[in-house]
Amino acid sequence: MLPGDGIGPEVIDAALKVLPGGLDLVHIDAGAERWLRSGQAFGDDDLDVIKSCDALLMGAVGDPRVPDGILERGIIIRLRQELDLYVNLRPFPELGITIVRENTEGPYSGVGGRDGDTATEVNVNTVPGVRRCVRYAFELAKERAERLTLVHKTNVLVHAGALWREVTDDMASSFPDVPVDYAHADAAAYHLVREPGRYDVIVTDNLFGDLLSDLAAGLAGGLGAAASANLHPEPATRPTRCLGLFEPVHGTAPDIAGKGLADSAGAVTAARMLVDALEAEPATA
Ligand code: IPM
Ligand code: MG
Repeated sequence: MLPGDGIGPEVIDAALKVLPGGLDLVHIDAGAERWLRSGQAFGDDDLDVIKSCDALLMGAVGDPRVPDGILERGIIIRLRQELDLYVNLRPFPELGITIVRENTEGPYSGVGGRDGDTATEVNVNTVPGVRRCVRYAFELAKERAERLTLVHKTNVLVHAGALWREVTDDMASSFPDVPVDYAHADAAAYHLVREPGRYDVIVTDNLFGDLLSDLAAGLAGGLGAAASANLHPEPATRPTRCLGLFEPVHGTAPDIAGKGLADSAGAVTAARMLVDALEAEPATA
């Protein structure tokens, strides 16, 4: 577990109560407090420990006193990349919607830079990267007998959009029972507010998924209640022992930290998702 900063430790305390007994818990001290103390938010040794664990339960990291990116790119995005957690699963049961967000590519790739007055942030999409995420979403929709909606912006992001559509259309032939449709990301934001019932499983890229999952959280139980599972679902291709990183969608809320006001529902749900994922693992010898 990596409780992190602000309300992180208190919501993780609550979440630990839903974990079954007998788990061997390892505490990782990482985040803003550590950065302010030592100049390092997270180390390679912490990464190695996490790689040797079955799963990671995270609270929240973030602090206005720490420059942008140190905690986000340095901890969360780094973990998603290094553990190759390519699915970010965000369920919103109140809405009957599940967002499957691609979690290692898109504008989060880290490709880009600054050249004088020009800044670029490259939106990287690869067929294997998109295919594995889209396959996971199809499997989920099939298992639940639900619709799958691809959300993108194919009318403007023509290169990435065409790749996502091709991969989805191609995959659809392997899942003849799953009804598939498509929505532009801006229209999906509108329809989510007006008529969320038109969606079941949404599959989308990293940045659209980031935005739409906060929108969905706002429509559902609030940011405090939303949870996410960052997964590498198949044991066969998982690069480390760690099957996933489970976290509430909310941040550190420093203004209410330590006051007993934090909503731990998201962290508790994240811990339940962790237990479910561990239990769903095929038994190893
Ligand atoms: C999320 C968060 C992260 C993201 C931040 C903290 C890096 O907003 O998990 O949705 O942008 O993915
Ligand atoms: Mg977000």
